[in-house]
Amino acid sequence: MYERREITPQERLEQTQYCEKIKARLAGRPHYALVDTYGCQQNESDSEILRGWLTQCGYEITDDVDRADLVAVNTCAVREHAEKRVLGNVGALGHNKAKNPELIVCVGGCMTQQPTVREKIKRSYRVVDLVFGPHEVWQFPELLWRTMERQGRRGDRGRLIAAQPSEGVVAEGLPRQRDSAVKAWLAIMNGCDNFCSYCIVPYVRGRERSRRPADILAEARRLVEAGYKDITLLGQNVNSYGKGLKEDIDFPGLLAQMDAIPGDYVLRFMTSHPKDATEALFRVMGASEHCAHHIHLPLQSGSDRILKEMNRHYDRAKYLEKVALARRYMPDLVLTTDIIVGFPGETEADFADTLSLVEEVRYDAMFTFIYSPRPGTPAAEMPDPVSRAEKQVWFDQLLDTANRISGEKHAAYVGRTCRVLVDGETGQAPYNLSSRTKGGRLVHLAGDPALVGRFVQAKITDSTTWALYGEVVG
Ligand code: 5AD
Ligand code: SF4
Repeated sequence: MYERREITPQERLEQTQYCEKIKARLAGRPHYALVDTYGCQQNESDSEILRGWLTQCGYEITDDVDRADLVAVNTCAVREHAEKRVLGNVGALGHNKAKNPELIVCVGGCMTQQPTVREKIKRSYRVVDLVFGPHEVWQFPELLWRTMERQGRRGDRGRLIAAQPSEGVVAEGLPRQRDSAVKAWLAIMNGCDNFCSYCIVPYVRGRERSRRPADILAEARRLVEAGYKDITLLGQNVNSYGKGLKEDIDFPGLLAQMDAIPGDYVLRFMTSHPKDATEALFRVMGASEHCAHHIHLPLQSGSDRILKEMNRHYDRAKYLEKVALARRYMPDLVLTTDIIVGFPGETEADFADTLSLVEEVRYDAMFTFIYSPRPGTPAAEMPDPVSRAEKQVWFDQLLDTANRISGEKHAAYVGRTCRVLVDGETGQAPYNLSSRTKGGRLVHLAGDPALVGRFVQAKITDSTTWALYGEVVG
């Protein structure tokens, strides 16, 4: 049964005490840890916490697996393809363990919440020492300590399988080693209550729970003060932020309060469910100083019949209305989406509806997926007569359309000058810097690496389907 539960300061303190014990155990020589992340930004955010804990435990973070004393794999369960890749890579760690029997292998993330996967790891992946779920990231030091205590014992008792049924924990004040000094993730909520019929997320990440607004605002202020220039608010469905909190707040209200934090930075958010994207949201975005005029608004399908089967709670007309409304408040809106091709029972006519909607909306970028049955979801039980080969034909057609439109939209930038944030180095001459427009379009630039972390004016000189190219003009 779901209950929102905040981790107490005492519980957090206990975890830091486990860190101290691990640190003492590792003393004497440097120890290295590698965290490998699959899937969404929420997972990247959790991996930052894992790196934070590991650093506090005395590990140095590495990306060289041959050097690692500990490998933590943060997994994704959204599609079968990712699952197979993860298991392949986990299996391959057997070679590393043969060379270094003391290597500790931890598997976390959404895959571990599925009982079938837990069983499989238990049975066939003996290389794994610790299995933990996304609900246990806050108590990783304790789980790691317990794993270390079991090492040396024989059989299954040497391993720790800790993944729990979905629970509603909210944990503040965890250490975090951020990947970038320019861009920051800021998780405002976790879990999902929507139960789209194809999606595993509600089963593995649990019920929706929001962080308190004061905690989020304090973290945002700290990020701005520390010099972060690009903050992305994260949640499976940020538009339903605030449900179940004592505070009377919704997502547009939170966004308005965040926008009031002074400084030169861009505010983004991911992901919005179309059914919950309101006029109030578009109004706040349009009027805000910091908010990117970008919405990622997953369509999933352009067919009313399939949208109903998907349990999406909107139809084609409602979706198009929202897009028109958003564009009224933000004529320069950048719009991106996710689409699933080949949902069970989808016909040629349903697919044609998706294509025509895509042509009508003209997305700046699209993420397209072939439907992947997820055991335990309602869609996995539905008859699915269309062959994989036919689905692939539709998919290719959709991808061609998406690429053509993105290419055209990108080409329209050429000759314009845009304010961009330089967010990193590409390592590839001559366009050695990567940057983003306020709307989130990628711009490759040639310039001084000292510009990383700065806003500059860029003249766009060239474009492809995926990116823009430009030169710094001020
Ligand atoms: N099969 C294919 N794609 C899926 N997604 C979610 N579940 C599935 C599935 N079972 C896609 C949706 C979602 C994105 C993150 O992944 O488009 O928006
Ligand atoms: Fe999955 Fe739907 Fe929730 Fe998105 S909104 S995480 S697609 S159930």
